[in-house]
Amino acid sequence: MQTQRLRIAIQKKGRLSKECQDLLKRCGVKFNMMGERLVVHSENMPIDLLLVRDDDIPGLIMDGVVDLGVIGENELEEVGLERAARNEPSDYKKLRRLDFGGCRLSIAIDKDATYNGPQDLQGKRIATTYPQLVKRYMDEQGVTFSPCMLNGSVEVAPRAGLADAICDLVSTGATLEANGLKEAAVILRSKAVLIQCTADLVAEKQALIDRLLTRMQGVIQAKE
Ligand code: PRP
Ligand code: ZN
Ligand code: MG
Repeated sequence: MQTQRLRIAIQKKGRLSKECQDLLKRCGVKFNMMGERLVVHSENMPIDLLLVRDDDIPGLIMDGVVDLGVIGENELEEVGLERAARNEPSDYKKLRRLDFGGCRLSIAIDKDATYNGPQDLQGKRIATTYPQLVKRYMDEQGVTFSPCMLNGSVEVAPRAGLADAICDLVSTGATLEANGLKEAAVILRSKAVLIQCTADLVAEKQALIDRLLTRMQGVIQAKE
């Protein structure tokens, strides 16, 4: 079901939401965020913004439910691997890397523990929200581990006796520090990206996307 209006999925609340809204505004898309709405209509362009949890954005694109999405590469790759493993659609087009949402996905261990390399993680239990990315990294290193899947409070898992190490997003490092942990290995460097579904869109929609991309190019260059 293709609507006339371009549908863009963005994070409702979290590390990408403000900069994402700012970017769209600088590209000339006028809208008014009010209340707890799922869909916000642009006032001056045939664009609807879908305000959703970041975790849902890759799937919405891969299933062709929305046309465009802004998402962190970490989430995008995790969901892509998970869906590919289940033989579900996992394709998308990466239109451009954005200049915000920078973070790294890192393995962290007790700050007093020694770390000489991935082999030190052999047989350990690792708490994470990104089991697929951890598995890909550990497979590459030839190291086996046990997962401990947590959607939140990952950083408290070692102290709570749930895991030996964690693998979570790090940006300033404050969360690790506050929890007596230190970064041992970076497994992915991530930024926000603009993605599109792979289905062919009607010409008007594709033309609008191309126009937005040109504006985005200008907006991002002007900041550099
Ligand atoms: C991430 C991550 C850490 C924090 C790291 O959480 O899970 O908690 O950011 O950032 P820092 O290095 O600057 O301390 P996020 O803010 O994405 O929210 P969530 O944990 O609620 O998903
Ligand atoms: Zn999330
Ligand atoms: Mg967190």
